[in-house]
Amino acid sequence: MFGIYINDVLFFHSLILISCLCVLSVLCVKHSFIRIKVKAHNCLPRQREISLTRGIERRSIILFVFTWILPVQDLHGGGKMDYNAKLSKVTVSLPPSGIRKFFDLVVGREDIVSLGVGEPDFSTPMKFCAPAIEAIKKGKTSYTSNYGLLELREAIGDYLKRRFNVSYKPAGEMVITVGVSEALDISLRAIIDPGDEVIVPEPCFVSYVPMIRLAGGNPRILETSFEDGFRPRLEQMENLVSPRTKAILINYPCNPTGVTFSEDDLTRIAGFARRHNLLVISDEVYGELTFDRPHISIASLPDMWERTILLSGFSKAFAMTGWRLGYVCAPKPLIDQIVKIHQYSMMCASIMAQIAAIEACRNGDDEVKKMLDEYRARREVIVEGFNRLGMDCLRPEGAFYAFPSIKKFGLSSEEFCERLLNEEKVALVPGNSFGRAGEGHIRCSFAASRERIRLALEGLGRFLQRRTDS
Ligand SMILES: Cc1ncc(COP(=O)(O)O)c(C=O)c1O
Repeated sequence: MFGIYINDVLFFHSLILISCLCVLSVLCVKHSFIRIKVKAHNCLPRQREISLTRGIERRSIILFVFTWILPVQDLHGGGKMDYNAKLSKVTVSLPPSGIRKFFDLVVGREDIVSLGVGEPDFSTPMKFCAPAIEAIKKGKTSYTSNYGLLELREAIGDYLKRRFNVSYKPAGEMVITVGVSEALDISLRAIIDPGDEVIVPEPCFVSYVPMIRLAGGNPRILETSFEDGFRPRLEQMENLVSPRTKAILINYPCNPTGVTFSEDDLTRIAGFARRHNLLVISDEVYGELTFDRPHISIASLPDMWERTILLSGFSKAFAMTGWRLGYVCAPKPLIDQIVKIHQYSMMCASIMAQIAAIEACRNGDDEVKKMLDEYRARREVIVEGFNRLGMDCLRPEGAFYAFPSIKKFGLSSEEFCERLLNEEKVALVPGNSFGRAGEGHIRCSFAASRERIRLALEGLGRFLQRRTDS
């Protein structure tokens, strides 16, 4: 045991151990000596004898704890490793997701009305599940090609052409991934060298900035505002571009603002990308969920196909979050590199999920429309509710999020959400979870039943009333 310690980095602990053992031994000897002396000569008054021996016992116990418990804890790794020296500085510097923090407070609590979660409250339609269940019964449980099942890539190719008028070849221009999360990660890693920059309009999905950092890049934050309708202005983009800029990362319809880009917005972004020879990483995972006008993929704009990395997937519109399925489409020279990272990290997405997704692409339009119609009706309930409460809110154009301003209520977004949760048991997400530009707002998901939306609005109403009364 001493060998372990002396050879170990924690030489300091060895010293404590040895010193404690020495002091303990001295105390034991002293203790025995006093007892012998007391017994032999009966020379101390009884009270003095008791307090002396008790004092020694107490000190012995403390030393015992120091001598054995602390070192044993070390042996189990409690203080032996300097983990900070081992961990990646980039990873340590990342804050935990603000959404997770709130989610952890809420999870398992039936008494809370939550509009916090960014996933459909619908189960995956049985129509999509059935072929996957059948495949499992037939023993189709293997790996697939790294690119994903060819049948699925063909189905996605047809689907993207039919819905968004963009063409990608199933062979060489597409990789099936584990959710859009992986699609985003491998796309960033494929294009970023240490120190490269990516422009990111905020407020944005919580993973964007951390993922750029993890890929070794520097996010260049473009703060959009409520007043600008959360759209990036041209001069803001121009101010951020540098010789190290590789790409601009956009998401529309947007989590958390519910804003989607018009053709004019996209033309402005496309012109900027062309002028500075940038790639556009376009996260269109909510593309099917637009309420007022059809979604336009930026890859369909003139001369944009060759500079676009299109990310999408099945989590949102198809209510398939748990299946973990997404895809990345891009010109072949990009996909050739992107697929290598996928190959070495994930290998492939789950075959059962891929089989379900074939059905979703080919025959899923009716199911998607049903859910979209319901989200549209809920949007009316939530927007009307905010109007009644005097909250300023842009009308969500897509996805299933509203992002009202809370600036006039004099609380930070975190304070607002914490107090609302404690006082009214209503869970929303503070806007600052989506970047500094989200401060002064709260994200309210309407992927929850109309009944729950009404309950949340009632709680919010009581909460605001108390603030105006006081
Ligand atoms: C904008 C955006 N991109 C990507 C994702 C991740 O999607 P997936 O579940 O497919 O990994 C989300 C999930 O909330 C999202 O909101």
